[in-house]
Amino acid sequence: MPVPIIIDCDPGHDDALAIMLAAGDPAVDLLAVTTVAGNQTLEKTTLNARRVCTVAGITDVPLAAGCDRPLVQPLAVADDVHGVSGLDGPLFPAPTVDVVPEHAVDLVHRILSGHPEPVTLVPTAPLTNIALLLTRYPQDASRIREIVLMGGSTERGNRTPAAEFNVLTDPEAADIVFRSGVPVTMCGLNVTHQALATPEVVARFEALGTPLGRTCAQLVTFFGSTYRTLWGFPSPPLHDPVAVARVLDPGLVHCVEGNVTVELHGRYTRGATVVDLHGSTGRPVNARVAVGLEAGPFWDRMVAAVAALGARAPSGPAAS
Ligand code: BDR
Ligand code: CA
Repeated sequence: MPVPIIIDCDPGHDDALAIMLAAGDPAVDLLAVTTVAGNQTLEKTTLNARRVCTVAGITDVPLAAGCDRPLVQPLAVADDVHGVSGLDGPLFPAPTVDVVPEHAVDLVHRILSGHPEPVTLVPTAPLTNIALLLTRYPQDASRIREIVLMGGSTERGNRTPAAEFNVLTDPEAADIVFRSGVPVTMCGLNVTHQALATPEVVARFEALGTPLGRTCAQLVTFFGSTYRTLWGFPSPPLHDPVAVARVLDPGLVHCVEGNVTVELHGRYTRGATVVDLHGSTGRPVNARVAVGLEAGPFWDRMVAAVAALGARAPSGPAAS
């Protein structure tokens, strides 16, 4: 049986691919897509999610907008990474998929309440919506099978030397999630940097010969240009689909247990995930921590999902 999941995202180039992997792979049942402010403003991330669903032919999945700013601090977007639109690169047609008239947190609550089995949440963005859900509807914790998130790192950060973007953007929300008692799997930079979209990957998207395959190639190419400029990466890491991959086949992403604590006060380290994999702090295990990716099979699943969606999607490049 497909695993029921909800993606909470801030598209974002890698978020766009994460949505496609979740919608195009038969191992998961995508129940909803929700958006949050992060890579860009909520208005832009929501428009981008609508664009992605439109070009990928994802018309039967409810899409809802959530929080427009972090819990405590002001929003700081990543336009240097994802561009002014948050999804620079391809030209998108005017979106035909719209949002439902419901706050993301209320939509997720309604789905969790009505679904016959616990649902897996896959946040690929700052954890504001998820923290708000757990705070506003604490009874929902038992209806969440697991939270499999992209964020944090066992090693260095990317937005600061110590902190990864999604956690740094809303550290208080991440702190709530890691202390919630809900099973959490953290797919951090240490593992997502193994998902490098090499020129061979771009060529595989192109070779699909569909408008959607071309759009994916353009997304990855733009993302690659900023990663090269900002960090000197030869190929960009597609962070967010790694969290989806962990759900659709746990064997693709190897994990170990540990304690993850979010640094809230560090003068230079606010937003860092302090990851104890060896019990040296005495703090209890509160997470599975991803440490290894089966990169070959991961890309096979990613390309197959885009192929499956592209075979039925209506997309064609047009200005918007
Ligand atoms: C994370 O930050 C965002 O820019 C990406 O979409 C990803 O979710 C990586 O640090
Ligand atoms: Ca993201």
